Amino acid sequence: MIVGSIKEDLTLEKRVSLTPETAKNIIGLGLKVCIEKNYAIHLGIGDNEFKKIGVEIKNSIDEVTNLSNAIIKVNCPTENEINSLKENTILIGMLNPSKNKNLIGKIIDKNIKNFSLELLPRITRAQSMDVLSSQSNLAGYRAVVDCVAEFEKAVPMMMTAAGTVPAAKVLVIGAGVAGLQAIATAKRLGAIVSATDVRAASKEQVESLGGKFLTVEQSENMETAGGYAKEASDDYKKKQAEMMKEALKKNDIVICTALIPGKPAPRILTEDLVKLMKPGSIVYDLAAEQGGNSAFSEAGKINTIDGIKIIGVKNLMNSLPLTASNLYAKNLFSFIRNLYSKERKDFNINLEDEIIEKSLIQKV
Ligand code: NAI
Repeated sequence: MIVGSIKEDLTLEKRVSLTPETAKNIIGLGLKVCIEKNYAIHLGIGDNEFKKIGVEIKNSIDEVTNLSNAIIKVNCPTENEINSLKENTILIGMLNPSKNKNLIGKIIDKNIKNFSLELLPRITRAQSMDVLSSQSNLAGYRAVVDCVAEFEKAVPMMMTAAGTVPAAKVLVIGAGVAGLQAIATAKRLGAIVSATDVRAASKEQVESLGGKFLTVEQSENMETAGGYAKEASDDYKKKQAEMMKEALKKNDIVICTALIPGKPAPRILTEDLVKLMKPGSIVYDLAAEQGGNSAFSEAGKINTIDGIKIIGVKNLMNSLPLTASNLYAKNLFSFIRNLYSKERKDFNINLEDEIIEKSLIQKV
């Protein structure tokens, strides 16, 4: 059995789905591995790094797909790439099914079993495969680093002979995976951090990282059985906006990470709320590609309104592709290890395994 990987479109995606470390681990399972030449050269990983652990290097996409029983990728293949995929094989990646219905339909028509790792159940056994967590963790870290680079003041409190510089204040909206990492990173840099979330359970997590939790008084339970947020009611939104008014006047940097799975991003910061911030402040919207938590945010752009910079994030993982690839490739390896049966020397598509059943797209 051979696992192959082809290059991503480098104008859009710098991550790769296979690293020398994970190729070695896949080979360790008893599988063979092949890749397209110059596969990860843009990340400083030459073909020789792969060759010396036994990976076969091929000259074209077709050579890789013809040889492989399973193809691993970061993003959904393009139409041309789908034409090159062999029938009755396996495809594993972050296929973004809600955005790529047509392409996925074509893949299914070729009898290819396609697994989309964003659909994995969030259960303990799947944690090592959880691509959403691994990538969002990095997003939370990078959000703070980007904000600090744009912010024209120092972040930590500094006591100097010339006088004291107060610490910057950072507010994180949404304390999920990205939000918690943003809190931890901002604390490490010396900021005064507060955060808010609709899920009451997140209070303890925010506080354990040294952040102050801003509570919106509520009677309803805003958390689903799976641990995700529900859409906020109008009453909640009103109370949250009231609470935000005071918080926004005080904070220098606001990092928005609020997300409700399968829904457009909740709009939390209206135009009026954003304008309450001081000139020189920053709103960093991680949800910009899903419509944005904040007014004025546009994916891939920095808009300045009354001296406030609103940064709309796009393809954030391209800012740290090496770390993102390392983690993504490890997630993929864990998935392959679960899918491959050493005894049968074959991929075992066991639909009684929740991990396999939930991540396999059977129809669009
Ligand atoms: P998550 O689901 O772990 O966290 C989202 C949090 O928002 C949850 O704790 C939820 O309770 C909270 N929330 C939902 N509605 C809220 C509301 N009205 N007010 C306050 N909190 C609310 O999601 P994760 O993985 O942390 O992702 C956060 C955002 O970052 C998402 O929009 C995601 O798409 C984006 N992201 C963007 C990346 C990029 O490259 N552009 C990379 C990774 C994540």
